Amino acid sequence: MIPAELLTARLRLRPAEPGDLADLHAVFRDARAMRYWSTPPHADLEQTRDVLDRMIAAPPGESRDFVIERQGRVIGKAGCYRLPEIGYILHPDAWGQGLATEALTAVIAHLFAAFPIATLTADVDPRNAASLALLARLGFGETHRARRTWLVGEAWCDSVYLALDRPPGDGSASR
Ligand SMILES: CC(C)(COP(=O)(O)OP(=O)(O)OC[C@H]1O[C@@H](n2cnc3c(N)ncnc32)[C@H](O)[C@@H]1OP(=O)(O)O)[C@@H](O)C(=O)NCCC(=O)NCCS
Repeated sequence: MIPAELLTARLRLRPAEPGDLADLHAVFRDARAMRYWSTPPHADLEQTRDVLDRMIAAPPGESRDFVIERQGRVIGKAGCYRLPEIGYILHPDAWGQGLATEALTAVIAHLFAAFPIATLTADVDPRNAASLALLARLGFGETHRARRTWLVGEAWCDSVYLALDRPPGDGSASR
């Protein structure tokens, strides 16, 4: 069963809804937030609607993505659009407060509890220092690198691949 929500000290994480469009667009149109994303910033609302529709329609057995709500406003998203690769984005107003660490700690615990996966993975632009610092804090380690993995707009970008193994002795897999 998909959980209705995950609660942390400051955040509510829940499945995406059609009404999240405006708040998510505020994140996806922001050039600072999208600097190392796999697409350029969203120039119009329809691009964000497409992302949101895909999140909502994603098969629950292969996907577990959450919008991140703080004080009733959606400030970003975190989870696996496709298991086992983790992804996340926060509005820049929410950076530097430990909110991504807080959200991802809850999401990762949920993912290992809900799915029989041995390892979570991440694919990060090597220039994305904030994301690499976040993953290091969460216990991810680098596995390998590759060049020219993403064509974003006109520019080729590289990838650092990281992984986090299921904690030892944690055999749970209840949905
Ligand atoms: C990646 C991203 C989510 C990281 O956000 P973040 O705010 O740096 O991450 P955290 O929530 O872990 O916050 C850590 C910062 O908050 C500070 N902080 C303040 N209070 C804190 C607390 N209670 N607990 C932990 N950290 C705290 C830390 O000192 C740290 O600051 P620093 O980076 O100046 O050292 C954010 O940069 C982002 O959305 N980027 C754009 C999207 C993106 O690139 N996604 C990844 C694609 S692979």
